[in-house]
Amino acid sequence: MKETVAILGLGYVGLPLAELLVKRGKYHVLGIDIAKPAVARAKKTIRSNKFSASPNFTAIAQADIAVVCVPTPVKRNFMPDYGPLKKACESIAQYAQKGTLVIIESTINPGTCEEVVIPIFQKYGLECGRDYQLAHCPERIDPGNTKWTLHNIPRNVAGCDAKSGKRAAQFYRSFLSGKVKLLKTLKAAEATKIVENTFRDINIAYVNELAMSFDKLGIDLVEVIEGAASKPFAFMPHYPGCGVGGHCIPVDPYYLIERAKYTGFHHPFLRMARAVNNGMPAYTVGLLKKQIKDAGLKRPTIGLLGLTYKKDIADQRESPAVKILQLLKMARFKTITFDPYLPTESSATSLQDALSTSDAIIIATNHSAFQKISARLLKQNDIRVVIDGRNMLNKEAIERAGILYKGIGR
Ligand SMILES: NC(=O)c1ccc[n+]([C@@H]2O[C@H](COP(=O)([O-])OP(=O)(O)OC[C@H]3O[C@@H](n4cnc5c(N)ncnc54)[C@H](O)[C@@H]3O)[C@@H](O)[C@H]2O)c1
Repeated sequence: MKETVAILGLGYVGLPLAELLVKRGKYHVLGIDIAKPAVARAKKTIRSNKFSASPNFTAIAQADIAVVCVPTPVKRNFMPDYGPLKKACESIAQYAQKGTLVIIESTINPGTCEEVVIPIFQKYGLECGRDYQLAHCPERIDPGNTKWTLHNIPRNVAGCDAKSGKRAAQFYRSFLSGKVKLLKTLKAAEATKIVENTFRDINIAYVNELAMSFDKLGIDLVEVIEGAASKPFAFMPHYPGCGVGGHCIPVDPYYLIERAKYTGFHHPFLRMARAVNNGMPAYTVGLLKKQIKDAGLKRPTIGLLGLTYKKDIADQRESPAVKILQLLKMARFKTITFDPYLPTESSATSLQDALSTSDAIIIATNHSAFQKISARLLKQNDIRVVIDGRNMLNKEAIERAGILYKGIGR
């Protein structure tokens, strides 16, 4: 008989997981989400008699495996918010049958399974390993990446005991082509995800800091990075930009920073990286102000191009563009916004509409659609200043056209 998998949380992580499991045909899949629109979207996306979706947690009683894919954001003060994770675990503890394998895919700091998840089950008289099994398998999905997908990205997994770890590894091996590595402890598996994303945050902060320094030195940092990247070992190129966004990179380092505080350890390096990256929207607006002054523009309209945190996707979470827009409004600039992936959030109806009404533009997202912004198009629309927050346009051609151009470190 086919096993039943319940997936709690049908967002960027849970929905593709449900889709892939159904496609593989080895399991019955139950999607559960507290948000009715998420349930409706899942029903529309996955049309199969092996799938059902609902906001009803009692369905967990039918599950052999329950996978938790709920958000793990930070609060306004950057403290980890475990609210959704705790609620999801409470629901599983209430309804799960004996022997259910609970897998946490949400990003969590080292120690969360032991300190947050297991005590919730204990409250319901359930002992880990005896009444239910517990594993952690951090999700690594990279929205918009067509080469590395849920299907082929290698995964790490660990269980509360050897049996749980082995069962969870078997589960993932049954439908993924990527390698599944079994780690020894839950804490190690939890730490891998935080370490991966913090690695990226730190490296981006490094090049963002270099960008601010090289702007003063008059060195094109992009050219430098491309030169350094010709070293075939021990260098990995990262590129500067107007800020870091998404639900992972600007969030996950805080999970470690805050947890480490309880051990008396303060992560100065990680905090510094966060501060540098958080400061990039303000740095970008600073560049704009200087160029506007140099161009002698009075009361210019600023076109903000791109509102999402990443190229060619519709996700606005933690987007630096949102912070840039706030800063522009605080500085009382007249603004017009355009994002081809967020038409209802955009004040312009098209790229042309945005360009024709702007005097200066900031590119906040490197959407493919913006690649057609040529020096000619800018000139035709009488754009006087370009702030290229993603270093994606032809700087030389734009400058030759007599338009003031400034990239980030370029
Ligand atoms: N988005 C990514 O690229 C990505 C990549 C890797 C890991 N992650 C991690 O995966 C987790 C989920 O992220 P996401 O991007 O899918 O979030 P999301 O916001 O897109 O989706 C989460 C869903 O969970 C639902 N939910 C909230 N509380 C619930 C509960 N108690 N029970 C059932 N459903 C509930 C929400 O309504 C929402 O639909 C996070 O921990 C995130 O850090 C995300």
